[in-house]
Amino acid sequence: MGIPVAATVTFEDGTSRCVDDVAQALALADVARVELLYEYEPDLVPSQPLDQAGMWRYRDLLPLDPGPITYPLPVGGTPLVAPPGLRQASGCDHLWVKDETRGPTGSNKDRATALVLEQALRWGHETVSCASTGNVAVSLAVGAAAAGKRAVIFVPADVEEIKLALMLFAGATVVKVREGYVAAFRLSREAAKAFGWCDRNTGVNPLTIEAKKTVAFEIWEQLGRTVPDAVVAPVGDGPTLCGLAKGFRELIACGVAERMPRLIGVQAEGCQPIKRAWEANASRVEPVQPSTIADGIAVGDPISGALALRDVRQSGGGFVAVSDAELLDAMRVLATAAGVLAEPAGAAAYAGLLRAIECGLLDRRERVVILVTGTLLKTPRFARSGRVPVEVDADLGALERALAGLGTN
Ligand SMILES: Cc1ncc(COP(=O)(O)O)c(C=O)c1O
Repeated sequence: MGIPVAATVTFEDGTSRCVDDVAQALALADVARVELLYEYEPDLVPSQPLDQAGMWRYRDLLPLDPGPITYPLPVGGTPLVAPPGLRQASGCDHLWVKDETRGPTGSNKDRATALVLEQALRWGHETVSCASTGNVAVSLAVGAAAAGKRAVIFVPADVEEIKLALMLFAGATVVKVREGYVAAFRLSREAAKAFGWCDRNTGVNPLTIEAKKTVAFEIWEQLGRTVPDAVVAPVGDGPTLCGLAKGFRELIACGVAERMPRLIGVQAEGCQPIKRAWEANASRVEPVQPSTIADGIAVGDPISGALALRDVRQSGGGFVAVSDAELLDAMRVLATAAGVLAEPAGAAAYAGLLRAIECGLLDRRERVVILVTGTLLKTPRFARSGRVPVEVDADLGALERALAGLGTN
């Protein structure tokens, strides 16, 4: 059974210790990062063929007591695709896209939301709260509606309008914080503590990493139980990347995988605090003022920055930063060459792949997975192709002439 047996607790000054008493470790989640540990063995990893269970397929490696899963939305089990057009466009013959836009609200945040709400259902929490740049909030609002829970969400005042509309539409209580995301995060933590809410905050609640690690299990299984050479992922607060790292570490600990992939973290040029620390070989991440169109990775003071640095260093990978123009271009290429509709932060891994190749962190011949984390459908204002439709009278001849004019019939 996959009940955690210990936890590593990492304090702000970087010191860590292993704690045998999991409840005691969880009580420290307020002041330290808590990473749950299991009694690893091959049997914890499912051996039956891939099925419809999604993320719950890995429940022996999730902190869940026995009993049926009652969280009602499907989660995980997202496709790993190998689009020929994208392989051609990138020149990478061994490239895969892990398409995390397929969750119930179109982002990888649906995994952590599901696990936190499953626990809230079991433990009887009535209110679940978080701070978010947008996607966590939509995910929690919709998930809470499905689970019959109340969601209280703290967002920066410049939150993407459609994302805000969706959270409100799903019935969440939404608090806009004028000073921005970092302040929203702080306030939401204080409020959760003061009012006894279940705190879903990313990187704080250890369940968020537990859920996010399942994407590594899926990649490994979908690649025929093999590890790719590298995985490229966008980095805002850091838990998406830290979750990947934990997932691959656990596969090794279970004795079913032999090595880690190199992890390549992608930040925006206008918000690259972790990449800067990596370049400077520093252990501290210095906060910056974010400026990028990619709201999901516009995090100036990342909550899991130090852990993301550690994980990338341990994997032998690195960080790259990409411009807003590169993000827009990556979105266009993902749409036209792979049929994957990504928002700016969601497309960062493709832009980062190209940048990593350019700066020698990756080789085109390697087996690489890029993580596409969020859908364009929630940010339609970026769907600007500069192209125009063909307009015709409803007549086949007119259509033929118009298409001939395009040279595409
Ligand atoms: C689409 C998208 N990609 C990437 C990220 C970054 O994830 P993390 O904060 O776990 O680093 C986010 C975070 O909100 C996001 O919304």
